[in-house]
Amino acid sequence: MDALALGNLFAGIKKKTKVVVVSNRQPWFHERVADGIRAFRPASGLVTALEPIIEAVGGTWIAHGSASADRLVVDRKNRVRLPEQNPRFTLRRVWLTPKEEEGYYYGISNKALWPLCHIVYTKPRFSRKDWEIYRDVNKRFSDTVLDEVGDSPAIVFIQDYHLALLPRYLRNARPDLKLIQFWHIPWPNREAFRIFPWSEEVLDGLLGNDLLGFHIQYHCNNFLDTVEKTMEAMVDYENFSIYRGGRPTYIRPFPISVDFKQIGIDAQSAAVQEKKAGFIRELGPGAEGKKIYVGADRIDYTKGIPERLRGFDLLLQRNPDLKGRMTLLQLAAPSRTQIEEYRSISDEIENLVEEINRRHGTDDWQPVHFLRANHDYYAVLAAYGMADVVMVTSLHDGMNLVAKEFVAARTDGDGVLLLSQYTGAARELTDAVLINPYDTDQLADAMLQAFRMPEEERRQRMARMRAQVEKNNIYEWGRKIFEELLKRVHIGKCRSEAMRASRAGSVIQRLNPHLAAVKFLTLRCSSAILKKLHARLTGITM
Ligand code: F6P
Repeated sequence: MDALALGNLFAGIKKKTKVVVVSNRQPWFHERVADGIRAFRPASGLVTALEPIIEAVGGTWIAHGSASADRLVVDRKNRVRLPEQNPRFTLRRVWLTPKEEEGYYYGISNKALWPLCHIVYTKPRFSRKDWEIYRDVNKRFSDTVLDEVGDSPAIVFIQDYHLALLPRYLRNARPDLKLIQFWHIPWPNREAFRIFPWSEEVLDGLLGNDLLGFHIQYHCNNFLDTVEKTMEAMVDYENFSIYRGGRPTYIRPFPISVDFKQIGIDAQSAAVQEKKAGFIRELGPGAEGKKIYVGADRIDYTKGIPERLRGFDLLLQRNPDLKGRMTLLQLAAPSRTQIEEYRSISDEIENLVEEINRRHGTDDWQPVHFLRANHDYYAVLAAYGMADVVMVTSLHDGMNLVAKEFVAARTDGDGVLLLSQYTGAARELTDAVLINPYDTDQLADAMLQAFRMPEEERRQRMARMRAQVEKNNIYEWGRKIFEELLKRVHIGKCRSEAMRASRAGSVIQRLNPHLAAVKFLTLRCSSAILKKLHARLTGITM
């Protein structure tokens, strides 16, 4: 599957139906620069994955406009056509006040849901005031989507944990909308989730969707289990669906990916060569004779950066002969810096880098080069291209697209990927050197294994990983999601028909508490009438 094929798949659908993507993070932001205003792409896995899809399909992307010049480039409806050189979709910006951003983005999304879903021993923090703001902002996104679609039928593709309530608001206002949501982070087990003070509301919000996607089956199972133990709903484990209000939400795994072909082309561009030259200057004379280990992450406590540094430190302590023969180039994008835990992980990393460089460095060799900045796409590709080893050491990660981007960028077929077994990517990229980032000894061993790996083995492993990412590329991800939606819902269903079904749904919702009894009797008596009643109430034939 490629961009053209996905575009063609949508060409027919789009004659009758609008396509809207909604996320918190925008695919492009505008900043003032010396000679005017420039558009930049943020460091975000979500954007890396979704931007090629919206370019192929067209439509409107609704997102929070948060950069300094964002307001200066939009029209009266807050819209701007993008990408600037060759516009293929519309970005519609939603504005938030600093107080709203604080409660909704920093508060509930990143101080509560993010640590709650990742379970990396950082305590989630909850505040009722933040929750009220989160609700209001989700409502604001809902109003914007409704304004954007007008009276037309539409497929709305919602992204991530910032917008958990949006599907329910949309469903209540427009039962005929086709709603899909993709949850880009892990879904935890129910014991972890149950401490969230507004858990039912979040689950009810998500069950407004027709289709809800996670990266891996394990997260789908956790979600089904969480719903079953938390609220009134019929969980159908055979079909991986949940009925609430008589209407199903299908829960499916869709491992996200990258634009394999385009990354391979861009990796050989002049822009990347230029960035490589910059890194070589940074690494100093003799850089090319050394093995280069690369890390490229947002500064986030889930990414295991201190663990990686400790592994590197141990490797050098145990193997002094490696000193001067290897270098760690760490690209680190500042992220969510208003949150205390993010500031302290950043300090911890800087201290560790200083310590390692002091302990092992010599007059003509610096073990770790820590480059704290928002490195653009071409710079990141340049680092992947120079790497002998790329290290992804996340303590927990829904997918991790650094791993897949690296593989896609290595058209030369060489390079080693060191990958945490706690990433979604580890399920597909089994030819990486898989590690447990909590185990420093194991990490140091794996770094040594990568150092010594013979070229033939490197190439064989890389070839298999490249075949996997090429096959399950981002367009394939898009195709699977939309074909699953088409299989499950009737795209042409008109608004009045959907309204009738929705009214029937509210009656069923009121009967929900009695469903267990109906199910019990149906199974016991195997009565045809009861079976029919059960099927009417739940949509499930027994
Ligand atoms: O992994 C979840 C996610 O929202 C990604 O989709 C994205 O890459 C990352 O977090 C960036 O987060 P933010 O938008 O907060 O900078």
